[in-house]
Amino acid sequence: MSLKFLVLISTLLWRHLVLAESDCPIVSTVENFNVTAYLGKWYEQEKYPILTETFGSCIYTDYYQEDGTTRFKNNELLFNLLPLSIGGTVSVNSTSGLLLITPDYKKTKHVPYYVLDTDYETFAAVWTCRENSTRGAWILTRERTPLESAVENGRSALDRENLSLEELRKTDQKDCKN
Ligand SMILES: *[C@@H]1O[C@H](CO)[C@@H](O)[C@H](O)[C@H]1NC(C)=O
Ligand SMILES: *[C@@H]1O[C@H](CO)[C@@H](O)[C@H](O)[C@H]1NC(C)=O
Ligand SMILES: *[C@@H]1O[C@H](CO)[C@@H](O)[C@H](O)[C@H]1NC(C)=O
Ligand SMILES: *[C@@H]1O[C@H](CO)[C@@H](O)[C@H](O)[C@H]1NC(C)=O
Repeated sequence: MSLKFLVLISTLLWRHLVLAESDCPIVSTVENFNVTAYLGKWYEQEKYPILTETFGSCIYTDYYQEDGTTRFKNNELLFNLLPLSIGGTVSVNSTSGLLLITPDYKKTKHVPYYVLDTDYETFAAVWTCRENSTRGAWILTRERTPLESAVENGRSALDRENLSLEELRKTDQKDCKN
């Protein structure tokens, strides 16, 4: 499969990251967010469904610093086989626990990630919403196969903000080769 084709697929995956919605709720986020403690791998356990990620599994994001910039690399397997990744930069507002995610392939696109809660060591709950545009939620854990309590802590964070838990779908993290 050609590189161009892969880029096209990952572009599509990214574009359909979240679903449309007209109004964004006001959420409270982590105060004094510590980006250093947040660096490293986060495995996706649950999220609001994303049509084009139906065939993606083993999804995780690696946050790291390079030349003074915080960056991310999103990894997944397509059809449990084909590795895909998307990289980009992260601009962090530590006061408000808001990360602005900018993919390398489209530098004009800034997706807001609100970190609703995290203990940095086991779980994180992340929300995104842009008026009239997109929204989504993720429950992330440090372990690929986490304790149920870590996932529960993430769900509780969404619940506290009155964000729907019913829309959450599990991400397949079984037999991963990435
Ligand atoms: C942020 O996290 C790092 C790594 O865990 C830690 O060394 C540092 O003390 C933390 N900073 C604050 C302000 O808590
Ligand atoms: C960071 O977030 C705080 C609280 O929402 C806001 O007052 C501040 O202007 C933001 N800082 C930057 C650099 O955007
Ligand atoms: C979102 O849509 C509503 C209704 O169509 C409109 O009044 C509002 O200005 C839009 N907001 C933005 C940020 O475009
Ligand atoms: C969630 O909903 C409850 C019941 O409607 C309300 O009392 C509470 O203030 C809401 N919490 C937030 C963070 O919006």
